Amino acid sequence: MNSSMMFKDDALVGSEVDSDVTVNDYLRNILNLRGTKYMCKEGGCGACIVAVTAPDPYTGGRRRMSVNSCLVSITSCQDWEITTIEGIGDRRTGYHPVQRTLAEYNGTQCGYCSVGWVMSMYSLLEANHYDLTQHQIENSFGSNLCRCTGYRPILDAFKSFAK
Ligand code: FES
Repeated sequence: MNSSMMFKDDALVGSEVDSDVTVNDYLRNILNLRGTKYMCKEGGCGACIVAVTAPDPYTGGRRRMSVNSCLVSITSCQDWEITTIEGIGDRRTGYHPVQRTLAEYNGTQCGYCSVGWVMSMYSLLEANHYDLTQHQIENSFGSNLCRCTGYRPILDAFKSFAK
């Protein structure tokens, strides 16, 4: 299993996993999916963001969103579908447009935060059926930190997805 993961089955995540194991710990240390990064481990930097489709208790349907994987216990992910950077594109299978656009706009330097940015933007696009305004994209920028680029190349890259 190396891309989208369904945590519907107790056999996959069951009583053998402690409740203090986060989604980030589980991805990196148990599934060996190291594409998802971490830094602060307190919800402040966005390096650990993954895309989630989960039950929505208000509508009874399912909701797509980005989630800070460092903040969520793996035992609270019943019936979640979690997509990591490994699941959206790579050199062998071809990059996702969000990955490609970020690179084309020079929106990555050291690259450590890039996965979180990509997964945040990917989640936003998926949740809104690729129908976003520049304002919505700007508003999403509170979720991630970057210490290299000054944000402008990332913002320019992602604004290119606006209608
Ligand atoms: Fe910083 Fe999760 S590691 S928000």
